[in-house]
Amino acid sequence: MPVPFLDLKTQYNQIKDQIKPELEEVLDTCYYVLGPKVAAFEESFAKIARTKHCIAVSSGTAAIHLMIWASDLESGSGIIVPPNTFTASAEGIVLAGHVPVFVDVDKQTFNLSPLKVEEFLEGCSDTGSPIDPKTGVRIKGILAVDLYGQPANFKELEKITEKYDLHLFEDACQSVNASIAGRPAGSFGTAAAFSFYPGKNLGAYGEGGAVTTNSDKLATKVRQLRDHGSTEKYHYDFIGHNYRMSAFQGAVLGVKSRYISQWNDNRIRAAARYEELLSDLPVELPVREEDVRHVYHLYTIHTPERDNLRNHMNGQGVASGLHYPFPLHTQKAYAYLGYKEGEFPVAEYNSSNNLTLPMFPDISAEQQELVAEAVKSFFRKG
Ligand SMILES: Cc1ncc(COP(=O)(O)O)c(C=O)c1O
Repeated sequence: MPVPFLDLKTQYNQIKDQIKPELEEVLDTCYYVLGPKVAAFEESFAKIARTKHCIAVSSGTAAIHLMIWASDLESGSGIIVPPNTFTASAEGIVLAGHVPVFVDVDKQTFNLSPLKVEEFLEGCSDTGSPIDPKTGVRIKGILAVDLYGQPANFKELEKITEKYDLHLFEDACQSVNASIAGRPAGSFGTAAAFSFYPGKNLGAYGEGGAVTTNSDKLATKVRQLRDHGSTEKYHYDFIGHNYRMSAFQGAVLGVKSRYISQWNDNRIRAAARYEELLSDLPVELPVREEDVRHVYHLYTIHTPERDNLRNHMNGQGVASGLHYPFPLHTQKAYAYLGYKEGEFPVAEYNSSNNLTLPMFPDISAEQQELVAEAVKSFFRKG
């Protein structure tokens, strides 16, 4: 029996009786963009992130762009970001008119390393705000990514952003309903960005995203920017964008958000099962930090044998993924920043050794055993 990387169908079959009437209501009311379904979802998602505001938008990329754009930083500011993430993390910084400044990640969690951030900031000149000696840009913020569903180390990052008077942005695109000591993803720092791309742990049936924040000012600005900078109908105080959420996605997410905690509990149970099945093998398993609810959007292991193992698993009918195979500082799109291969050894190690195993809330014990058997047989062979 082949094991898929992701199974969206089983979940859809469980909830389709609730989804279809919601979609029909959208069709009947002809309220296709924003409207009551999106507003109701915003209200329920603000409860999940435990923030004062949630602004639903058209994608996670839009959410990253908007939260930084709405922060009104001086154009060309430097924002620290890890290199081992999806391109949208750094792209959002560039779209908002700023400069991604890469800093390496922690060897265990592969999230931004507070130690390395601190070291980097200590090496900056400090007239006013820190100035990156390499690019000459003033550092005004940190964008930390909750990679694979584990929140970045916000306890330490918050101390750093306070000390240096920086904005703290959270890329929570992989971490809906994760938490640190009970504090939910989305509630750290200035603002957070979520993605509801279909494969995410809270996935829409199309593109979607959200910004969460406790700041009234930032929330108002994000709402205006997502709708062409409009302050009221036909009044535009500044240039914005069309980043509105479709009502169909609001309707789907309204239903699915009721189940997210339960679905994440299933992922956590599946991660524990993988840990049992794989613990004797020469692979690095995900490391969860103390006090953290890691929601395993992705269950990613590391091994120098990654490519051969992946081919072998493929031959056994077991799908896998790479998150992400090339760090951003080595990509053409970011070449203008002047980074070289070798500058971020942990991010580079992560990129060439990571392998993501099938993970979804409904993955069965039998499917996980097949995955484990495929991994085991590779190491028996070699
Ligand atoms: C870490 C991270 N940031 C940003 C994004 C962008 O989200 P979207 O695809 O909804 O634009 C994603 C999702 O792909 C992601 O995983």
